[in-house]
Amino acid sequence: MSRSAQLVPATALLLVGALALTACDGGVHGTPGGSGPRDPYFPKSGNGGYDVTHYALDLAYDPDGNRLSGTATLTARATDDLSAFDLDLDGLDVKSVTVGGDKARWNRTGQELTVRPHDDLDEGRTFRVTVRYSGTPRTITDPDGSEEGWLPTEDGAVALGEPTGSMAWFPGNHHPSDKAPYDLTITVPEGLQAVSNGELTASRTSGGRTTSTWHTAEPMASYLATLAIGDYDIRRSTIPGIEGASDGGLPVYTAVDPSEAAASRKVLAQLPGIMKWAQAAFGPYPFSSTGAIVDRQGDAGYALETQNRPYFPGTPDTGTLVHELAHQWFGDSVTPKTWRDMWLNEGFATYAEWLWTEDHGGDSAQQTFDALYDHGDDVYDDLWDFPPAKPSSAAHLSDSPVYQRGAMVLHKIRQTVGDKAFAALVRGWAAAHRHGNADTDDFTTYVEHQAPDKDFTPIWDDWLYGDGKPERA
Ligand code: TRP
Ligand code: ZN
Repeated sequence: MSRSAQLVPATALLLVGALALTACDGGVHGTPGGSGPRDPYFPKSGNGGYDVTHYALDLAYDPDGNRLSGTATLTARATDDLSAFDLDLDGLDVKSVTVGGDKARWNRTGQELTVRPHDDLDEGRTFRVTVRYSGTPRTITDPDGSEEGWLPTEDGAVALGEPTGSMAWFPGNHHPSDKAPYDLTITVPEGLQAVSNGELTASRTSGGRTTSTWHTAEPMASYLATLAIGDYDIRRSTIPGIEGASDGGLPVYTAVDPSEAAASRKVLAQLPGIMKWAQAAFGPYPFSSTGAIVDRQGDAGYALETQNRPYFPGTPDTGTLVHELAHQWFGDSVTPKTWRDMWLNEGFATYAEWLWTEDHGGDSAQQTFDALYDHGDDVYDDLWDFPPAKPSSAAHLSDSPVYQRGAMVLHKIRQTVGDKAFAALVRGWAAAHRHGNADTDDFTTYVEHQAPDKDFTPIWDDWLYGDGKPERA
C-alpha cells in the first residue's frame, strides 16, 4: 500500500469504490462490505460481506519494549460481491495489505481496517488477505471497566479477547458469529514460553529466539483466542477414556507461573476428573486437547474460557476450574450468535458449578436455587435488575442476572421436565450446535421440541425475558 492511499479517509475510499462501480461495465459489480453484523451490544464488532475460513498468525513478541510484530493471513469466502471489506484492528501500525497476493489499498478509521482489493471479489469466491503489522498492542478497557486485549504481565504478556480484545493483537472478523480454525506461530526471546490455543506442533530455538507453532483444528471464535508469554512451568500429560481422543488419550497442556506452581498443581490434579465428569454430563468433549494457563496472582484479574486451555489469574478454586472447563462445551463449542446471548455461556457454566457441587456431596442444585431465590440479592444486589436474555447494556454483560439468574432459568427447565430429561436436554443442546453458533430463540425452540407436552411460556416470560423478580412457582 502506498503512503498516499493510506491517508485517504474511509469514506473517500468507499466513494472511489462506488465511482469505479458505475464507471466499469462488464466487470464485477462489487459493493463495499458492511462494517459489522450489528451486534446489539458491540455494533462495531465484526464485519459484513465475508466469512473467515482460516486464520494464520505469524507473530513475534519482545517483552522489552512490549513490541509485537506479525503477519496475519486470513482465508475468507466472499458472501457478497465486494469492492471493499473491513477487518477489525485496534491500534498497531499496518505496514501492508495484500489480497490474493496483490497489493491492496487500505485505510483505517477507529477499529475498522478497510481493505480495497485491486480487483473486486465475486460472491462465493475464496480469497486470502495478508496484513503485515507491528507496534505496541493496546490494553482495552471494557464498558464494564475490566481490561482485555493485550495485557503486559510481570514476565511477559497475555492476550484476552472477551468481548472485543482480540482486535488489539490481530486483524480479523472479531465477532463470535464468525468462527474459524487457527494456526499460530509465535517467536519470543529464548527462555520464555509462549502458550496458545490448540496443540503445540513444533518448537525450535535458534539465535536466541524460540519459535512455537500452535494448531487449532476446530472452529474458534476470535474472543477465545489467547497467547500467554512468560516464564511458565509446563506439563504435558494425557487423559484416557475421553471420547473422540486417540488411543493415547486426550492431550493435556498446562502452563503455570512458577509462583503459583505448588497451589495450582493440587487444583489442576482435578482436571482429568472434571473432564470425565463433564463428558458424562455434557457429551463428547468438542476439542482435540485440554489444559490450563495459570498466571501470577493478579495478572488480568479474571478467568477466561480461552479455547482448549482456560486462563486463570492465579490458582483457581475447583468451582472456577469447573466453570471454565464447562465453557468449552457452552461458549466455545456452542457459541453465542451475538453478545446478547451471553447467558447461554454463563448460565450453563454457572449451572455446571451447581451440578458439580450436587454430584460431589455438596448442596443440590435445588438448594443452590432456593438460597439464591431467598437471599441471592444479599450477595448479588443486582440479581433482579434485568432478565438474562436482555442485558441492560454492554456494561452489564458479566453481571449476576446473566450468570446466576441464567443458571436459575436452566434449573426452572429441569424442574419442569425432570432430572433425566434435563440431562438429555443439556447433552442434546451441546450436540445440536456443536462447533456452531446459537441464540436464545434457538434455545427456547430446542427446549420446546424436546418436551412438547410441557408449557415453558411462564419460564420464558418471567425468568428469561421478564423484568423484576419472578414468582417462585
Ligand atoms: N467469561 C468469563 C467467565 O465467566 C468472564 C469474563 C471475562 C467476561 N471477560 C468478560 C464476561 C467480558 C463478560 C464480558 O469465565
Ligand atoms: Zn463464565
